[in-house]
Amino acid sequence: SDAPVITIDGPGGAGKGTVSALISEALGWHLLDSGALYRLTALAANRKGVALDDEPAVAALAESLPVAFIAAEGGARIELAGVEVSQTIRNEQVGADASVIAALPSVRTALLARQRAFRRAPGLVADGRDMGTVVFPDAPLKVFLTASAEERARRRYGQLRENGGSATLQSLLEEIRVRDERDRNRAVSPLKPAADAITIDSTELEIPEVVARIRALLAERG
Ligand code: C5P
Repeated sequence: SDAPVITIDGPGGAGKGTVSALISEALGWHLLDSGALYRLTALAANRKGVALDDEPAVAALAESLPVAFIAAEGGARIELAGVEVSQTIRNEQVGADASVIAALPSVRTALLARQRAFRRAPGLVADGRDMGTVVFPDAPLKVFLTASAEERARRRYGQLRENGGSATLQSLLEEIRVRDERDRNRAVSPLKPAADAITIDSTELEIPEVVARIRALLAERG
């Protein structure tokens, strides 16, 4: 498909998910939450007792992942083998496991075609780490959304408290640093801005401001 794509890459907690959902909703475009595919693969491996370092077995799971993204009010409902896992895949352990299997080259290859299939008219907003560099290198608009690690930890802390979770700010900051380190330093598809990406630092911006900036960039290029 040659439908237009806006790629939104960056580290975890920068606001990519929320921003991508709002933009796709405003434009009436499809949405790809690529992190969910890595999280689902990690969850499937755990449920099947597949070791996270068994690359061929994890890649086989990624290839045949029985997942469904069902459009719903306030974000997609995500199912694995017919069971809703929308909340389950958001927990810290699944996120950490996702970043471990995401470093395996054949797992990334197995998920490539699945991600590209989301590109359909009238357009796609794709959220992840390598959307602009690897998955959709010809995207007409690429954004790299960042925020300081401290600010990302504070946001995560706020979300967890709202949902009744318990964690300390310090432990969240530590997890964020470990995950950033792994995502930035892996050999395949490391987290980095595409050469033609526009970087937006959201440390001191509210979500609506970030959305407005990206929509203005799209209009400029329209
Ligand atoms: O964005 P999210 O936190 O859901 O992603 C979970 C993990 O999946 C990331 O830490 C990263 O290791 C991996 N990931 C990736 N490439 C993507 C999206 C996510 O490697 N395009």
